[in-house]
Amino acid sequence: MAPILRILGIETSCDETAAAIVERRDDGTATIASDVVLSQLDEHSAYGGVVPEIAARAHVEALDTLIDEALRRANVSLSDVDAIAATSGPGLIGGLLVGLMTGKAISRATGKPLYAINHLEGHALTARLTDGLTFPYLMLLVSGGHTQLILVRGVGEYERWGTTIDDALGEAFDKTAKLLGLPYPGGPAVEAAAKNGDPDRFDFPRPLVGETRLDFSFSGLKTAVRQVATAIAPVTEQDIADICASFQKAISRTLKDRVGRGLQRFKKEFPKTADKPALVVAGGVAANLELRRTLLELCDRNGFRFIAPPLRLCTDNAVMIAWAGLERMATGAAPDGLDVQPRSRWPLDQKAETLLGHGKRGAKA
Ligand code: KG4
Ligand code: ZN
Repeated sequence: MAPILRILGIETSCDETAAAIVERRDDGTATIASDVVLSQLDEHSAYGGVVPEIAARAHVEALDTLIDEALRRANVSLSDVDAIAATSGPGLIGGLLVGLMTGKAISRATGKPLYAINHLEGHALTARLTDGLTFPYLMLLVSGGHTQLILVRGVGEYERWGTTIDDALGEAFDKTAKLLGLPYPGGPAVEAAAKNGDPDRFDFPRPLVGETRLDFSFSGLKTAVRQVATAIAPVTEQDIADICASFQKAISRTLKDRVGRGLQRFKKEFPKTADKPALVVAGGVAANLELRRTLLELCDRNGFRFIAPPLRLCTDNAVMIAWAGLERMATGAAPDGLDVQPRSRWPLDQKAETLLGHGKRGAKA
């Protein structure tokens, strides 16, 4: 049997405290031995968003127990683990400090190597764990803090083809929900309301559609929703449903155009991939069924496979951090020293320029 590498993953960059044990064989196949996630949703929902100080304290309270639980469920002890992988950015600095310092302490106490992982790299490589995807592929990351189209060339080789110039897509959902008096987090509430709505009642803007650059913009959409809601106030339940349905339609149209151009560029740059080319979607907004339908259709039309890892692995988790650590180990990369620092901002593509407004809430990924 091929030798196994076993790693402990730790994730604390936003409002999920998570720990996982993942094993990788020499042939690249992997087993998720345990996957523990504690969501802080209840702590933050009263504030309509993530409160950094509350998040950091909650990570401190939960992390030790969660790591114990991950080890127990995997039926191993720390001495059976070959390495530790902890998220060290991008994210909320308080939370990152908690996870990275814990990783350092375990590394120091056990003598096992530590890998400081970029959270976005975790999202980017997950599809290789779940679907055995080969490089290169295209990834659309749509979460509360990021909207990015990324070319994944290899472990540590990422090219950002597009990003938002203002709000992230999840942020647009959350702000629209807030505006309409729907609960936090807004995405699921908007999607539920949209089910009973007329998507053709309001013609919301689709910024950047038609432009050759592959960036996104969603703040104008949110403003348009505000203007419509103010104009027809007081809004009825049916009005809210119609606004939500029209909002989702505008987003679908936008993604069709932006991501569609990305697929075309991929085909031009990689006319001969070993397997059928693939688009991977990740991030909490990937839960949206309307959005999934749009992307699936788009992929079908362009001869791409559409890969959506299970939702649990699309949203924040420690399995993806552990897996990114294992991928780094497999390339022979050196571990990080105990002097490694957390970074609240840490673009995957170091060469990509920072766009205006990008990462306003760059804390979340
Ligand atoms: O990846 P995620 O769980 O956390 C981070 O942002 O780190 O993403 C959360 C975001 C929130 O903005 C939430 O409103 C959005 O994902 N979301 C959705 C849906 N479920 C969650 N957006 C649209 N439709 C959904 N069904
Ligand atoms: Zn994330």
